[in-house]
Amino acid sequence: MSKSVFVTRPIPEAGLAMLRARGYEVEVNPNKIIPTQADIIGFLQKKPYDAVLTLLTDPINVAVYDAAPTVKLYANYATGYDNIDIVEAKKRGITVANAPAPQTSESVAEHTLALALALAARIVEADESVRRGEYKGWDPMNFIGMDILGTTLGLIGAGRIGARVAHYATGLGMKVLYTDIKRNEDVEKEGAIFCATPEELLPQADIVSIHVPLLPSTQHLMNDARFKLMKPSAFLVNTARGPIVDEAALEKALREKTIAGAALDVFEFEPKVAPGLLAMPNIILTPHIASASIETRNEMATITAQNIIDFFEGRQPKFAVNA
Ligand code: GLV
Repeated sequence: MSKSVFVTRPIPEAGLAMLRARGYEVEVNPNKIIPTQADIIGFLQKKPYDAVLTLLTDPINVAVYDAAPTVKLYANYATGYDNIDIVEAKKRGITVANAPAPQTSESVAEHTLALALALAARIVEADESVRRGEYKGWDPMNFIGMDILGTTLGLIGAGRIGARVAHYATGLGMKVLYTDIKRNEDVEKEGAIFCATPEELLPQADIVSIHVPLLPSTQHLMNDARFKLMKPSAFLVNTARGPIVDEAALEKALREKTIAGAALDVFEFEPKVAPGLLAMPNIILTPHIASASIETRNEMATITAQNIIDFFEGRQPKFAVNA
C-alpha cells in the first residue's frame, strides 16, 4: 500500500515531485500561514499518515506524537531540528531526519558576509537616509564605516557553515579566530586560529558571527557578560538560531554602545522582533532568509524527500538525527 506523507506547508516542488513519482500520497497544507501545534494535530488526526514533512516553525513533541500514532517519520525541511523533541521520538521508535543540504552552507555563509559587509559599510542606514531625502551632497564625514581588510572575524562555531564563512573571510583579508567544542583541522589549514573559549575570542574580534546549533548549552550563549567582553567597535552577526542571543542583553549592549552594531537573521521569539531592536539605528534585521536561495531551497526539498524514500524503502535515512 502506498505511504502517505503530510507536508505542513508548501515547499519547492522538486521534493514533492520525487515523492509523487515513487507513488507516495502527498498532501500539502496549502495555507502559507504558520500552523500552530493545535493546527498540526488537527491535520494529523484527519488521516493515519505514515510520515510528516515538517518545517522549522512546527513544534513537534509529545502532544503531536500522542495525536498521530501512525506517524513513524518526521522529516524536517531544515538543517536545525530544535523544533522537534528527538529524545521522546526515539523512546517511541519514531525516526527524525533533517536536511543539512551542502548548498545551505554556501547560502548562509554568503548571507552572513553580506550582513557583515553591510554593517561595516553602514549600507542600510545610508540607504534609509537617502530615501528620507537627507542626502544634500558629498560630505567628508557622512556615514564613516570600517574597512574589512585586516580586521578579525571571531566565529562561534566552525562546523560546515562556519567553515565556509572562514573561507570567504580569509579571501577578504580577515584574520579568523574560532571557538567550538571540537577543533576543525580544515579551517585551521586555511589559517583560522582556535580559541578554547568565547571569553578568549570575544575581546579580539571585530566581527563576531554565530554558527552553532540551538541546544540547552548554547541558549543565551551571547549574554550580558559576553557582550561586555566585545570591543566597543565590534559587530555581532547571528544567522544561526535566535535564542542563542539574549535579545534583552543585546538591546542593552547596543543602547549603551557596549558594541557598535548587530545584524540578525533570526530572533529569540521568532517571528516577533523586540520593539527595542526595531527602533535601533545600528542593527540590520532580515526575516530568517539566510538559506533562501533557489539552489539551496531546492536541494533541501530533494534531501528531505530522499530521507522519506530511504526510510520507507528500508534504508536508514542519510540524515536521521536520532537513529
Ligand atoms: C534554517 O534555519 C535551517 O535550519 O535550515
